[in-house]
Amino acid sequence: MEWTTELRYKPYEEWSAQELLQLQAQAANSQYQMAYHIRPQSGLLNDPNGFSYYNNQWHVFYQSFPFGAAHGLKSWMHLVSDDLVHWRNLGLALAPDTPLDSHGAYSGSAAVIDDKLLLMYTGNVRTKEWERISYQNGAWLDKNGKITKLPKPLIEAPEHVTEHFRDPQLLKYRGEYYVILGAQDKTTLSGKVALFKSKDLEKWQDLGYVDFTDDVMGYMIECPNLVFIDDKPVLIFCPQGLEHEVADYQNIYPNMYVAGEHFKFNAGKLQTQQKAPINLDDGFDVYATQAFNAPDGKAYAISWVGLPDLAYPSDSENWAGCLSQVKVLSLDADGKLIQQPVPAMADLRQAGTVLRPEANYNQRQQLVYQAGKHYELKLNLDANQSGSLHLAANKDASQSLKIDFSTQDHGYVKVDRAHTGISFNEEYGTTRTVNFDQANRLELDIFIDGSLFEIFVNGGRHVITGRFFSQPDNQQIALTSEIALDFTGTYWPLQGI
Ligand code: FRU
Repeated sequence: MEWTTELRYKPYEEWSAQELLQLQAQAANSQYQMAYHIRPQSGLLNDPNGFSYYNNQWHVFYQSFPFGAAHGLKSWMHLVSDDLVHWRNLGLALAPDTPLDSHGAYSGSAAVIDDKLLLMYTGNVRTKEWERISYQNGAWLDKNGKITKLPKPLIEAPEHVTEHFRDPQLLKYRGEYYVILGAQDKTTLSGKVALFKSKDLEKWQDLGYVDFTDDVMGYMIECPNLVFIDDKPVLIFCPQGLEHEVADYQNIYPNMYVAGEHFKFNAGKLQTQQKAPINLDDGFDVYATQAFNAPDGKAYAISWVGLPDLAYPSDSENWAGCLSQVKVLSLDADGKLIQQPVPAMADLRQAGTVLRPEANYNQRQQLVYQAGKHYELKLNLDANQSGSLHLAANKDASQSLKIDFSTQDHGYVKVDRAHTGISFNEEYGTTRTVNFDQANRLELDIFIDGSLFEIFVNGGRHVITGRFFSQPDNQQIALTSEIALDFTGTYWPLQGI
């Protein structure tokens, strides 16, 4: 099907229930489907939105185009959870059905205000001439689950930005409200984080742009998020068109962070010693991460696993995208972000199997294990090891998601998705590598969910996330090496949610 503009923006009510049911069945029966991650019931999922804790539950929403694998008319889908792992789908929450969001209920955030949750989102509107207007809208969610959109935008675009002005994050600080937004500056056509302040959510003061770097942040910033970890600010954002000299990355668009010492709200200044933004994830597909400070004192993050302007093999089955698992954020002594699975992820584990080097295998192949498609694999490697871990491998491991590792000299982990059986997006490279300063032990905590991998390296000091697509029968785990390996591992099949 060709996704013409007309089809992308066809009103929801003009799609038949039959069409939607067919799409849902197609996604449900996909061989690439996940079991324990948030994925679309039909069509395309992109950014997480409104990640929050309200009314004794965790809430997350996501950008949805339910009618195919296309960036069409977007809405918010709503899920709730008691443990950040088991999510219940409550369905459509914000439809693009008013003059303030006629061409999409775009990304935004949520904040608890008194006894309600305020959803703040970008209303994408196109004029007859197809000019874009971006309204920053609000909608109240009450304890009965009723959503009421505000009749007027909370913030309208100031003079100094172009039409690219979106993705508000609403924050409360010392009894006042602040909003940061992704923006493109009108004069320089460069990426900025805009800052607004209000005492009453009615009158908003434009505080200009957040000062967090001297470098040019590409031509546009999307999805900025500010969280505090041990009172230290961390700004997470997606600079599009960032020069590779400023900060290196391989993905089409990066999702990066800058950690600092202080955030001066009124001056809009993030004080930092960090020289350049750092990739939040070392893998292939993380974008639009949303993080927030929860009432339990922790900072949590969740990401879209998918990238704008790229196609994925599941597109031919009319669905695309998923959310990452939720991660708990902390900072190490050097101000680097550490991301770890939330404790309830362990509740998905079924009976585990201990994996050890197998004496009766030839020297090259030191472990072969018949796995499923949805599992966790923990592997601890001693120093002075090197080899390859093959996941989703066929019999001779000529096809696999290959993880080369070394704990010799300067260690590294290199993920290669070129030979999984079905290749895609090769123009942005088929490998991602994390290098270590010194040789050391290596701890890998690997989550496989159908066509998604999340690899936590050394207790979350790095996370390598990506999609991979393999033949359905390729389900073997194999470890190969020229040297006798010293490792211990545990394999757990994981339950679906
Ligand atoms: C990022 C993004 C946001 C926008 C949303 C639309 O992926 O482009 O900037 O609000 O997606 O779906």
